[in-house]
Amino acid sequence: MRAELAVLAEDDNYLQQSRHLADKLERPLLAVADAKQQDIPFFLVYRDHCLKLLDKALLKKGGLTVNIDPRPGEQSSYPASKKGALAQAVGRKTQTILDATTGWAQDSLALFRMGYHMTCLERSPVMVALIEDGFSRLAQKDWVIRRQLQVPELISGNSIDRLQNLASQPDCIYLDPMFPPKRKKSALAKKGMNVLRDILGDDTDKQQLFMTAMQHAGKRVVVKSPDDAEPLGGQPSMSYASKLVRYDVYLIGENQNV
Ligand SMILES: C[S@@+](CC[C@H](N)C(=O)[O-])C[C@H]1O[C@@H](n2cnc3c(N)ncnc32)[C@H](O)[C@@H]1O
Repeated sequence: MRAELAVLAEDDNYLQQSRHLADKLERPLLAVADAKQQDIPFFLVYRDHCLKLLDKALLKKGGLTVNIDPRPGEQSSYPASKKGALAQAVGRKTQTILDATTGWAQDSLALFRMGYHMTCLERSPVMVALIEDGFSRLAQKDWVIRRQLQVPELISGNSIDRLQNLASQPDCIYLDPMFPPKRKKSALAKKGMNVLRDILGDDTDKQQLFMTAMQHAGKRVVVKSPDDAEPLGGQPSMSYASKLVRYDVYLIGENQNV
């Protein structure tokens, strides 16, 4: 599915960058006055020093961006402690994680702040542009520069293909594919995920992605899903529940005894 989307030329200071993005994504570049007259539901715009995704209702203000700051309640010092269901699911002995469904990169960034070495895969070119912008803002953060941290590597493309050609095998492959909508989530998460669903649709090939991940993970595959969804790969080795979500862990081969 390819939702209607254009790049908005709002600020002359970003004209070059906006033109380059529109060319790269093969989308129209529109002035604000023209955008209002057209029936296009989504826009990318450089605003407030970052790249934002807007829907028509948010044309004037707001917008969704890759948030690189700790989530509410999350420890802000580095490395953040490895507690909570997400950290338990990826495992304390894990060092390298490949997120095969990066999306808004909120899980990847939480894991990066815990000190894991992250590689991120994403197949939507629109999301890739938003994540690239987020990661370049991350690289400018004081705490990242001071510690000489490498921000996560971002690879564009379908993970089902990309996983077959990795330079090195990650300890853990992390999957959070799009499931059909369910009950209440936090307002921002809901907005972000709903917009993603409107643009991309559900990930109907998640079963194939899971099978591929099981062939290429070193120690485990972790699948995040709504708490009431059927486990993607059948009975998991273990599961960790959090608010409205569940992390199913599938251990690989000899790690099944760990
Ligand atoms: C539910 S979102 C992930 C949200 C993410 N965990 C976060 O914290 O923001 C799913 C994302 O995975 C991507 N995706 C799904 N299947 C994929 C595949 N086979 N290869 C690459 N990306 C994929 C979708 O394009 C979408 O951006």
